[in-house]
Amino acid sequence: MISSLTVVLTVVTFFTLGSYAATADQWRSRSIYQLVTDRFALANDSSSNSNVTCDTSLRQYCGGTWQGIIDHLDYIQDMGFDAVWISPVVANIENTTAYGQAYHGYWTQDMTSLNPHFGTAEDLKNLSAALHARDMYLMLDVVVNDMVSPNGLNLTSLVPFSAPDQFHQLCYITDDNNQTEVQQCWPGDSTLPRADINTDNPSVVTALETWISGVVQEYGVDGIRLDSAKHIHSSFWAWFTENAGVFSLGEVLSNDTSYVAPYTQVMDAVLEYPSYYPLVSAFSSPQGNLSALVDTIESAQNIYKSSTFMTGTFLENHDQPRFTSLTNDTALITNAITWPFITDGIPVLYYGQEQGYQGGSDPNNREALWLSNFDTNGPYVSHMKTLNAARKAAIAPQTSYFLTNPMTFMNQSNSSMLAVSKPPMIALLTNVGSNATEDVAWTVHSAFGAHEYVIDVLTCNTIQADSKGGMTVKALKGMPQVLMPMNLLGKSRSLCPNFQFSDKATGAGHSLSPRQATLVVIALVGITLAFV
Ligand SMILES: *[C@@H]1O[C@H](CO)[C@@H](O)[C@H](O)[C@H]1NC(C)=O
Ligand SMILES: *[C@@H]1O[C@H](CO)[C@@H](O)[C@H](O)[C@H]1NC(C)=O
Ligand SMILES: *[C@@H]1O[C@H](CO)[C@@H](O)[C@H](O)[C@H]1NC(C)=O
Ligand SMILES: *[C@@H]1O[C@H](CO)[C@@H](O)[C@H](O)[C@H]1NC(C)=O
Ligand SMILES: *[C@@H]1O[C@H](CO)[C@@H](O)[C@H](O)[C@H]1NC(C)=O
Ligand SMILES: *[C@@H]1O[C@H](CO)[C@@H](O)[C@H](O)[C@H]1NC(C)=O
Ligand SMILES: *[C@@H]1O[C@H](CO)[C@@H](O)[C@H](O)[C@H]1NC(C)=O
Ligand SMILES: *[C@@H]1O[C@H](CO)[C@@H](O)[C@H](O)[C@H]1NC(C)=O
Ligand SMILES: *[C@@H]1O[C@H](CO)[C@@H](O)[C@H](O)[C@H]1NC(C)=O
Ligand SMILES: *[C@@H]1O[C@H](CO)[C@@H](O)[C@H](O)[C@H]1NC(C)=O
Ligand SMILES: *[C@@H]1O[C@H](CO)[C@@H](O)[C@H](O)[C@H]1NC(C)=O
Ligand SMILES: *[C@@H]1O[C@H](CO)[C@@H](O)[C@H](O)[C@H]1NC(C)=O
Repeated sequence: MISSLTVVLTVVTFFTLGSYAATADQWRSRSIYQLVTDRFALANDSSSNSNVTCDTSLRQYCGGTWQGIIDHLDYIQDMGFDAVWISPVVANIENTTAYGQAYHGYWTQDMTSLNPHFGTAEDLKNLSAALHARDMYLMLDVVVNDMVSPNGLNLTSLVPFSAPDQFHQLCYITDDNNQTEVQQCWPGDSTLPRADINTDNPSVVTALETWISGVVQEYGVDGIRLDSAKHIHSSFWAWFTENAGVFSLGEVLSNDTSYVAPYTQVMDAVLEYPSYYPLVSAFSSPQGNLSALVDTIESAQNIYKSSTFMTGTFLENHDQPRFTSLTNDTALITNAITWPFITDGIPVLYYGQEQGYQGGSDPNNREALWLSNFDTNGPYVSHMKTLNAARKAAIAPQTSYFLTNPMTFMNQSNSSMLAVSKPPMIALLTNVGSNATEDVAWTVHSAFGAHEYVIDVLTCNTIQADSKGGMTVKALKGMPQVLMPMNLLGKSRSLCPNFQFSDKATGAGHSLSPRQATLVVIALVGITLAFV
């Protein structure tokens, strides 16, 4: 009853606003694919596009467009992503500066016009409609902290702000630890000044609120990513996000949970930067410190407004070196890539990670994806697909449970082993690496039902729990495992599609006989019917 009402309301919203006007709760179960519009796909795609090169070191436009994204939504959706975060859409300066061109979209000149390199208003609306037709969400990257003038310090050609009192007085940020400076002074430098919008001026604030509300409605936006959130005072964000009326995910660049925590009060969610740093260092070598990662998560769980649920969990983005530029060890990489999908937060995957792209710091981490030919056999494509499907399967049976019960960490005797409990899923991660010579194992207690059959969705190996629901699981060449009760494989069989319930189990486990499997299926159908 309630769910059919929700469906009706959603459909009505879709036709009136052209957007799902998605709420934070609706975003919780989603999985986000972040792309750089200029680098994802060319318009009018054809096989010849794979010959259009893109030298990232030049920092220039390479030709990606909104139409290109529309043409490749299958690629994104087939991996299980149901939201797409695109680059900022507004008109940027056209100059080729000492730091290159504004292909990334963060150098706004005119907030009231679209960036013509990415397409027309109709193209952007069509992208929004194409996403909605697939029940996918559109997330817009929004820059309201600063603007860039084509004439340096002469701001007269900026739109809609150009008067001196609409910008903070000129001073460049030199001390990132001085919050007054971070908020009042300008980012950039004398080579490329970034004029800091005066968000202490009430008429400027009103104009920004009207602007975002218009953009959301005009283009059917379902969520916004707030660029440079720490550079604007908190109360601005409370007003701004309320006027946007859709889910907001803020970029608060800090490794400190206590710095980030106050921002969780004024926006729906934050990108989980504090755990990004220990995540990268934990898995970039066997010497990494897993407990530093655990400590950060536990701190965030204690002090964020909604524990770590309202966070965007990520391993890579356009501002940080790709993880694969730090290590070539497949086992370490696979563990790290798995992390964002097994936590409380909303997983965010940065485009190209699925293809094993290895670019280091900006601008090298913004490679053209068309050069991969959108290869569905790319190194981590099927891994993404499995992780997204596993998360959905974990959410499905008891939606409120997976999305509201905080992850916990199960003690391990070896500090290179990490067991993350998020029922009905248990993720087993390790940073021993693929060259570990000795056997290592995870031990979990009371994790599942007594004698319950459990499957590692990454290898499709099965294990049977002991009489107390615990088990010891050996690591294979340093690879992670994601355990779920076998009965959650579900009817759609997007997980372990080739797995037969009669398959011979490996390791410590046992397989179900065909008769047992039949009983499991009958029981599942019964349970499903009981809930319909
Ligand atoms: C794409 O193709 C259409 C039809 O052939 C054409 O009208 C349009 O200008 C092309 N767009 C680009 C960006 O080349
Ligand atoms: C792309 O370039 C390669 C190598 O130069 C060439 O063999 C191929 O025909 C080109 N493909 C298209 C579609 O132009
Ligand atoms: C946008 O979508 C409409 C409806 O599908 C279509 O008629 C139109 O040609 C599309 N516009 C562009 C620029 O592709
Ligand atoms: C940027 O481009 C504009 C328009 O072409 C031009 O007037 C201006 O001088 C350029 N600025 C710089 C710093 O090159
Ligand atoms: C600022 O730039 C505009 C053109 O964008 C020009 O008309 C005006 O003279 C410039 N002002 C100064 C003080 O240079
Ligand atoms: C922080 O920056 C402001 C503005 O530049 C300055 O007035 C203040 O002295 C700085 N505070 C500290 C502690 O350095
Ligand atoms: C954050 O990074 C700085 C600089 O590397 C370091 O001094 C500080 O201890 C870190 N803070 C936390 C909470 O990890
Ligand atoms: C790992 O990080 C924790 C902080 O979370 C610290 O207490 C511990 O000493 C670190 N261990 C090593 C081996 O550096
Ligand atoms: C990974 O392998 C590539 C190619 O062999 C090499 O250039 C790169 O330096 C290696 N990266 C690391 C972090 O070892
Ligand atoms: C394991 O060995 C392979 C091959 O020698 C190497 O590429 C990889 O970097 C090593 N892994 C670690 C974590 O050292
Ligand atoms: C995990 O180990 C710590 C320290 O060894 C201990 O304080 C804690 O109670 C243990 N937790 C569980 C759930 O066993
Ligand atoms: C964990 O196990 C690995 C592989 O057996 C071993 O090399 C490492 O020393 C162990 N680490 C600790 C802290 O016991």
